[in-house]
Amino acid sequence: MSTRTTDLSDLFPRSTFDPDGPAPRIAVLGTGYLGATHAVAMAQLGMEVVGVDTDPNKVAMLTAGKVPFYEPGLPELLTEQLATGRLRFTTDVAEAVGWADVHFVCVGTPQSKTSHAADLRFVEAATTSIARHLTHDALIVGKSTVPVGTGARLRELVADAAPAGLRTELVWNPEFLREGKAVQDTLHPDRIVLGGTTPDSEALLRRVYAGPIAEGSPVVVCDLPTAELVKVSANAFLATKISFINAISGVCEAAGADVTVLADALGHDVRIGRQFLDAGLGFGGGCLPKDIRALMHRSNELGAHQASALLQQVDEINMGQRSRVIDLALEACGGSVLNRRVGVLGAAFKPHTDDVRDSPALNVAAALHLRGAQVTVYDPQAGDTARSSFPTLGYATSVDEAVEGADVVLVLTEWDEFVDAEPARLAGLTHQASVIDARGKLDAARWRGAGWSFRGLGRAAA
Ligand code: UGA
Repeated sequence: MSTRTTDLSDLFPRSTFDPDGPAPRIAVLGTGYLGATHAVAMAQLGMEVVGVDTDPNKVAMLTAGKVPFYEPGLPELLTEQLATGRLRFTTDVAEAVGWADVHFVCVGTPQSKTSHAADLRFVEAATTSIARHLTHDALIVGKSTVPVGTGARLRELVADAAPAGLRTELVWNPEFLREGKAVQDTLHPDRIVLGGTTPDSEALLRRVYAGPIAEGSPVVVCDLPTAELVKVSANAFLATKISFINAISGVCEAAGADVTVLADALGHDVRIGRQFLDAGLGFGGGCLPKDIRALMHRSNELGAHQASALLQQVDEINMGQRSRVIDLALEACGGSVLNRRVGVLGAAFKPHTDDVRDSPALNVAAALHLRGAQVTVYDPQAGDTARSSFPTLGYATSVDEAVEGADVVLVLTEWDEFVDAEPARLAGLTHQASVIDARGKLDAARWRGAGWSFRGLGRAAA
């Protein structure tokens, strides 16, 4: 896909670990949400970067300046960095690995099809492929989210596959970026964790991250297993916080209290903080659900059963929220949704992304469809990704179209467009003005005032 002419420095061996050597060249393996953003960000920080993917379509798109998914700010930065000549993409792993000094592993670690464990096939294949194609000393940096112990196993694979006589190090530098804020999180990380480094590889990574470090991003240097665990523990804590507020929302509902006000009041305590206390449909996406399950699995393997038991509860509370919303929809339709029209606002697992992996919104929409409802979904960005995962649902191109003739309207992803919608006007489009706010972001008094029957999780029925 891309070709490079040999420059003079290519004729001499690269001195990867030399602190006075030329700026490190970067290879990023995997160009999904993590890798594409990381590659662009590394170029923005001033380094020469090659992004590598086995999918020629992705490489062609990125080379043409097109991001294969929706991520605010990334297309602009991609175009800018391609124009500098510092950034390119290729399917040719041998060429990329032979050229670069620091190799970031950014491939996916999905949940295994047959258990809660993470599927490490892609991480193992990418790491082995780097090792096999090395032509000079190299630092291999894992960024993917992996079970603790993976790095140690990968070091063995590298030792077996790398050409003799080369110095190779493998370290872990987990990524904490959020979809929808990926560019900001990558360029201005709230911490940089370096696991299993030697003084030389730590110094090399401090050169790579010189920009954010100068800005004040704290650096935590630790061993390999701690770095691996920091990442999954962070996601497990966030998931626990969400399930905590969702459990409390059940108490609020039973007691006639309002969980949105309660969360605001809790959040004023700096030890608790307001973030990740939005009660509702719960967490989904490509990270939190599979990461807590992989941690459950790994904790059990290690005999640390308490962590597993805690996370099992977190997962159960989370999945229970989906059933709760389905029940509210059935209730709103008098006990059955058979042949009733359901307008679903939101398909993405959260706003500002088109990602529908393990999306609670689509899960609820599909469950109502299976119960015989005519479901029409609208999402400002995730319509196409949703349609390819759930082709049997109906799709609309606007809020109006989705709520037209509806017996009940469900707000399942809190896009601004839904929160700011005009309830009085929308009421006139429906068959029955009944709304379920599954994300706790609508102004209940305003919707009720406009004639809607309003139900929310953790909020009084009337
Ligand atoms: C998450 C973490 O937040 C990132 O730090 C991490 O790097 C990333 O996973 C990853 O492992 O790659 P992300 O999956 O983009 O990021 O999504 P979050 O913003 O964490 O939201 C996850 C889910 O929790 C969403 O479905 C969201 O709607 C839900 N959520 C969030 C709530 O239900 N309530 C809240 O208060 C907050």
